[in-house]
Amino acid sequence: MSTLRPEDLKQYSDTLRTRQGESLNVRFIEPRDTEELQHYFRSLTTRSRYNRFFGAISELPKGLLSEFLDVGARERFTVVATKMVDGFETIVAEARYALHAETSTLEFGLSVDDRWQGHGIATVLMKNLECRAAALGADHIFGDTLRSNESMISLARKSGFAFVNHPDDWKLVRFDKEIAVAPKDILCASWRLAALSRQAESPSASV
Ligand SMILES: CC(C)(COP(=O)(O)OP(=O)(O)OC[C@H]1O[C@@H](n2cnc3c(N)ncnc32)[C@H](O)[C@@H]1OP(=O)(O)O)[C@@H](O)C(=O)NCCC(=O)NCCS
Repeated sequence: MSTLRPEDLKQYSDTLRTRQGESLNVRFIEPRDTEELQHYFRSLTTRSRYNRFFGAISELPKGLLSEFLDVGARERFTVVATKMVDGFETIVAEARYALHAETSTLEFGLSVDDRWQGHGIATVLMKNLECRAAALGADHIFGDTLRSNESMISLARKSGFAFVNHPDDWKLVRFDKEIAVAPKDILCASWRLAALSRQAESPSASV
């Protein structure tokens, strides 16, 4: 498993294309996004926020907001998917993931702005997270969702995840997928390069 150097974070931006042909930029969150990120969460419907955080919040509490902005701290990372809307770079989705080195797993949660749901954004964002998991040397990628969250369950099923009971909470279900991709076959260009250079530095690394 490997960590990313803060000075290298900017190079890990990807351009994704949804099934509707829309172009999205996925990049790590930056301090300049603070207000826009809060605006994004405030603008989600109550239901979407509940599904994202498993509880009722109207915006990110201060402590959680600083955790979201502290990219790489304790191997936790926030990415935003942005689109140009009326000439402004606008956050249309976010994802947060944690690399658990002890279990070689990458855990994630995500949300898409309600106005942009149904466009295939979560589908491509999850594919991008799979690239990151592969490049970072994870064997599995997983997430937790409320059992009542039919959209997320359907999305996870379509994306090839299997379901298991959550170890501690009966209200949640865990979706999990094995990552078995050779570095040269990683679909996202920046993460393929990261994996190949990691392999060159440490030839014994499996991915
Ligand atoms: C779940 C969520 C991320 C899906 O995002 P999205 O960008 O709309 O998803 P996609 O457009 O890529 O849809 C992919 C599949 O998800 C499922 N899905 C998405 N929205 C759905 C809905 N309203 N009802 C049922 N299934 C739905 C479908 O299987 C869909 O495939 P289809 O379009 O072929 O029918 C989004 O609804 C969301 O942000 N919800 C609030 C936060 C949340 O629930 N996060 C998950 C917990 S970590």
